[in-house]
Amino acid sequence: GAEVVINGSSSPAVVDRSNESIKHNIQPASSKWRHNQTLSLRIRKQILKFSDAEKDISVLKGTLKPGDIIHYIFDRDSTMNVSQNLYELLPRTSPLKNKHFGTCAIVGNSGVLLNSGCGQEIDAHSFVIRCNLAPVQEYARDVGLKTDLVTMNPSVIQRAFEDLVNATWREKLLQRLHSLNGSILWIPAFMARGGKERVEWVNELILKHHVNVRTAYPSLRLLHAVRGYWLTNKVHIKRPTTGLLMYTLATRFCKQIYLYGFWPFPLDQNQNPVKYHYYDSLKYGYTSQASPHTMPLEFKALKSLHEQGALKLTVGQCD
Ligand code: CTP
Repeated sequence: GAEVVINGSSSPAVVDRSNESIKHNIQPASSKWRHNQTLSLRIRKQILKFSDAEKDISVLKGTLKPGDIIHYIFDRDSTMNVSQNLYELLPRTSPLKNKHFGTCAIVGNSGVLLNSGCGQEIDAHSFVIRCNLAPVQEYARDVGLKTDLVTMNPSVIQRAFEDLVNATWREKLLQRLHSLNGSILWIPAFMARGGKERVEWVNELILKHHVNVRTAYPSLRLLHAVRGYWLTNKVHIKRPTTGLLMYTLATRFCKQIYLYGFWPFPLDQNQNPVKYHYYDSLKYGYTSQASPHTMPLEFKALKSLHEQGALKLTVGQCD
């Protein structure tokens, strides 16, 4: 089939940060956006050539046993052993087996969500994906509450839960996990060695307190595949962000995909300051040279897909 043009230009990923929010104005206006189903289906098919997210969303119990050795995807020389706890928490079947949804929301964590009033619209989608255990209760008006899948990079345990140094922080994490109430908790445990202990702590907490979540641990193939797909489409990402991983995965299950909270720029479309996260004081420096991510480049790709009707980006207020 015809190639999907995602990159929009052939220039390399050199990003001039001074004026980005102007360059990134979202066109067409939200009211004129129309879903392009033909294109969405074509993208799903292309991504399926790299990975079937129904399978690769998690390693399954049948494929590993305690004691097995896994090489970290980004630290090939480091290995981990599959612990008894991890093994216990591996799903027997894919948590998204035979699932299909009319519309899905993927909620990124940009401060652009603040004062958006998007909560109700987000909660109206059939399937809502969130990232990195971002808090919802206090921000419900802008981000909604419904959560069907939430990701958790091991680094979140350090960043948002003080590495569980004392009982108070352990309790905080436990409360957050209990509030997930049966949704899918997606933990990239095989990416980087830095998360080893943190993943084990969380696994232990879930088992010890019988937390009602459906754990999923993405396969190495999913990560490789996502990178492969975008590289094939000339989007030269170093390491896909959680948000891009979720979009790629969602194409498998969702007819229409709506993105909120994707805005990796310090100013909004009206030149007002935007926080990096809607819920904490993390700064933008985090996305710069030191970070393995290339968020503005990803954003450009997503924006191009928005303009073609393959997904809908909301970067302002909801009606
Ligand atoms: N995001 C964005 N603009 C921001 C912040 C986040 O577009 N200002 C999107 C990114 O796709 C990101 C997702 O929202 O992956 C979740 O945000 P966050 O939890 O901050 O992800 P990071 O930890 O920064 O990056 P990752 O989890 O992808 O390593």
